[in-house]
Amino acid sequence: MEYRHLGRSGMLISEISYGNWVTHGSQVEAEQATACVRTALDLGITTFDTADVYAGTRAEAVLGEALKGERREGLEIFTKVYWPTGPGRNDRGLSRKHIMESINGSLRRLQTDYVDLYQMHRFDVATPLEETFEALADVVHSGKAHYIGVSEWKAEQIRAGYELARELKIQLVSSQPQYSMLWRVIEAEVVPVSEELGIGQIVWSPLAQGVLTGKYLPGQPPPSGSRATDEKSGAMFISRFMRDDVLSTVQKLKPLAEQAGLTMAQLAVAWVLQNPNVSSAIVGATRPDQLTDNVKASGVKLDTELLKRIDEVLDPIVERDPDKTESPSKRP
Ligand SMILES: NC(=O)c1ccc[n+]([C@@H]2O[C@H](COP(=O)([O-])OP(=O)(O)OC[C@H]3O[C@@H](n4cnc5c(N)ncnc54)[C@H](OP(=O)(O)O)[C@@H]3O)[C@@H](O)[C@H]2O)c1
Repeated sequence: MEYRHLGRSGMLISEISYGNWVTHGSQVEAEQATACVRTALDLGITTFDTADVYAGTRAEAVLGEALKGERREGLEIFTKVYWPTGPGRNDRGLSRKHIMESINGSLRRLQTDYVDLYQMHRFDVATPLEETFEALADVVHSGKAHYIGVSEWKAEQIRAGYELARELKIQLVSSQPQYSMLWRVIEAEVVPVSEELGIGQIVWSPLAQGVLTGKYLPGQPPPSGSRATDEKSGAMFISRFMRDDVLSTVQKLKPLAEQAGLTMAQLAVAWVLQNPNVSSAIVGATRPDQLTDNVKASGVKLDTELLKRIDEVLDPIVERDPDKTESPSKRP
């Protein structure tokens, strides 16, 4: 495993991290979740990403339990706040009230005194940005989080947050967007601003939720147990990629991966890591062997000719529109 700085910060994180959206507390049993976390640690993954909202708050508890007994200083634990965590009108968003309540809930469930990175899971149109950042400054200055990040914020929102963070003497160091060979919407605006401000991308769904592993074949039912068969939530989220034109185009990457001596999953993870503004690729996994496969992408250099051929194959189905970086127009 290779390690990168999180943006311009002094903290190093594993360039492949493990996230537990959809999986822990939902798609997979606790025992399987723990087995994945233990394998991740054995493979050199030290960075773990979760959120208060995942699996109705259960995902944080599963991760906290799985990491129990680990040396805290050897881990980087990331969580998030914004999406609803309860039925109340204040159990959501980025108000001072919800941030203060949510960080305490997250720390309790994660069984830790602090998180390394506290991320704003979307931009909250219903709270003044100053209120959010003043609350975050209190979270950081009380030692409950070390660094601040955002997720799916537009370039101008990142810049506004960055300036407030500086004034308040806290560090906004990361952005967590969706990024993969199929979803490149950050390249035009978010990445240039982030490079200028020293913000690193921690990218989600680098495998397009499993689609880029090539295991979903056009015109055929999805493999049993895969995300596309998870009726609790996974099937709904992956549906955007489950189109025959996408699945058949993705199959054309297979010979390219083989020529490079990589599995398709490794090619997909290595592809996002070629972007120097990416600090880490957050992979998901329902089984330990998926992590064993995916981590081999660490340190892989893809040559220019291969990158060009990937672009030629995928061009008709790649999404590049920067307007697809968005937050809800109303607080959920
Ligand atoms: N900030 C945000 O808004 C946001 C949104 C989404 C995700 N995230 C973060 O990003 C993390 C990763 O997202 P993701 O789970 O969608 O990422 P992903 O790595 O694109 O997809 C992971 C899924 O693909 C399948 N898979 C993984 N490796 C495989 C392999 N080698 N062979 C075959 N199948 C494989 C597994 O699903 P099956 O076995 O079920 O098929 C696994 O759960 C999340 O856990 C979360 O931390 C953040």
